[in-house]
Amino acid sequence: MPQHTPTRFGTPLSPAAVRVMLLGSGELGKEVLIALQRLGVETIAVDRYENAPGQQVAHHARTITMSDPAQLKALVEAEKPMLVVPEIEAIATPMLEELEAAGTVRVIPTARAARLTMDREGIRRLAAETLGVPTSPYVFCDSLDELQKAIDGGIGYPCIVKPVMSSSGKGQSKISGPEDVKKAWDYAIAGGRVSHGRVIVEGFIDFDYEITQLTVRAVGANGEIATHFCEPIGHVQVAGDYVESWQPHPMSPVALQKSRDIAKAVTDNLGGQGIFGVELFIKGENVWFSEVSPRPHDTGMVTMTTQWQTQFELHARAILGLPVNTALKSPGASAVIYGGVDAQAVTFDGVADALSVPNSDLRLFGKPESFVKRRLGVALAFDADVEVARTNAKLAASRVKPKAA
Ligand SMILES: Nc1ncnc2c1ncn2[C@@H]1O[C@H](COP(=O)(O)OP(=O)(O)OP(=O)(O)O)[C@@H](O)[C@H]1O
Ligand SMILES: [Mg+2]
Repeated sequence: MPQHTPTRFGTPLSPAAVRVMLLGSGELGKEVLIALQRLGVETIAVDRYENAPGQQVAHHARTITMSDPAQLKALVEAEKPMLVVPEIEAIATPMLEELEAAGTVRVIPTARAARLTMDREGIRRLAAETLGVPTSPYVFCDSLDELQKAIDGGIGYPCIVKPVMSSSGKGQSKISGPEDVKKAWDYAIAGGRVSHGRVIVEGFIDFDYEITQLTVRAVGANGEIATHFCEPIGHVQVAGDYVESWQPHPMSPVALQKSRDIAKAVTDNLGGQGIFGVELFIKGENVWFSEVSPRPHDTGMVTMTTQWQTQFELHARAILGLPVNTALKSPGASAVIYGGVDAQAVTFDGVADALSVPNSDLRLFGKPESFVKRRLGVALAFDADVEVARTNAKLAASRVKPKAA
């Protein structure tokens, strides 16, 4: 039986190396890979295209279709990593469950968690129906007719329609009245990751604000798994995609406690070790669970300027069975830099200008291809005043100008 928890750390590229495979090597995977490398781990970066950001910093780069079970199985069996770390949702997760059940690999946090969170139905039913956690009212629909019936039957207007399999707001739209229903259905069917055309319609929650509660399951001093919470991260989403985040977001003690109770209930059930991004809506002292990523969260990029251990370092430590520290170092903020153009190999002007903003920092991800709405980088800023940090992160981001080469 292969060993799945390191008891000592070997030298990379030697037989005793601890080998970890990232499934998905975008900007979040890249930072996890760097954190692992710093602990002397040998890394294998997998993505669906060549020269993905994480592949540029890993020991090994592999390019496969991760949603194809046969390709995934062949790669895991050939590479024999100690851990497989999913960094995206679109993976053949039933195959991960098979490989985990056979004892071939340990999947982070668990193969079941990867499967349940890869589509909105698995996680929503678990949270609302099994765990009894408050969520928006919802119905799953397979046709325009079913969607209209769900709305008329109680969901009402306004509501939000999302493909069951999609992320970053793809295929998602708000329905304000009957005239929007068909458009929202067509948009969801076009934007889903697979073409089977199932959507969730959710009642619109008129929240005061939304947060990401980063939650870490890591082995404590007594050898048992303990749950650790980061300070809440506030964020702004435009068309379902994150554009700005900051930490900490001020919250009433009651709302914070409810948020953490929900995060604990959901992550306890998903199990395993690692970081989770629990998305919550808050209105007054009411809290609704929205969704959870069993991995670092895009809004959590702010932790690269706000925490002693970033969400990526926390993930790396937690999965390796090492202690974690979720303490805040300084309030701070992040702002997304979009491609703005459709082009290969863009160049960036204004980098020095951006970094002349006080207490700012920058990550340019190195994506080989730019799209107008593709995230190519993120600006960071810290300040004792979180509002100053937000202003400065946005200012720094606005100074970076991607251009077609
Ligand atoms: N029921 C709802 N009521 C009000 N706003 C909502 C609702 N569902 C989603 N939203 C808004 O849309 C955003 C994106 O929704 P959601 O997180 O479900 O989509 P996503 O595609 O998984 O996004 P991401 O991958 O970026 O997390 C939420 O963060 C929130 O701002
Ligand atoms: Mg989300």
